[in-house]
Amino acid sequence: MKSLGILLSGRGSNFVAIAESIDAGRIVDARIALVISNKADSPGIDTARQRGLNALVIPSKGKAREEHDREVVAALKTNKVDLLCLAGYMRLLSPWFVQQFPRKILNIHPSLLPAFPGLEAQEQAFAYGVKVSGCTVHFVDEELDHGAIVVQKTVPVLDGDDEHTLAARILEQEHIAYTEAINIVLGGKFEILGRRFVKSSQNAEVRMQK
Ligand code: GRF
Repeated sequence: MKSLGILLSGRGSNFVAIAESIDAGRIVDARIALVISNKADSPGIDTARQRGLNALVIPSKGKAREEHDREVVAALKTNKVDLLCLAGYMRLLSPWFVQQFPRKILNIHPSLLPAFPGLEAQEQAFAYGVKVSGCTVHFVDEELDHGAIVVQKTVPVLDGDDEHTLAARILEQEHIAYTEAINIVLGGKFEILGRRFVKSSQNAEVRMQK
């Protein structure tokens, strides 16, 4: 049984989608060991409590990044988290944090990276006038919205769209994409070749025995 950690700052709909996928057996052999919010008033952390999950607020306000990161990492290690899923976590992780969980941190971003990294990706895409956008689940590395891409889903931009309708259709795909990516990563049957995440027929341990 793998233990997932979730970091969030806000609404928490991606977290709920992951929790529902576990409950429904779409993600197998995994549980959510810990949900952490850096904000006490995030709806996502209330939902985590209501679901009876181990939910922790570790406030970031007024703390140096490294200090806050150390508290978060300590909680994740105490709970023996195998895979950490950022789900609307509005903080940059320090390089030290990323190094604590090599290839074990996923993020979801509401655009087809490398287009429109950073904040308000859906608004950026809409304003730019792209005809296709979508979402990306990727490994987290030391750069913002940058690590190897695990899953992408496309969403057409319709003539009648505004930023909100586009964002809502992207969000539906985010919920599907995160479950898919978690299953692939927990399955362990992949290689990262340069920047490319490639599915393989065997997991890393088996490959190394050859
Ligand atoms: C999502 O759009 C996600 O892609 C981005 O932040 C938003 C979080 O939404 N990283 P929610 O809190 O999961 O509902």
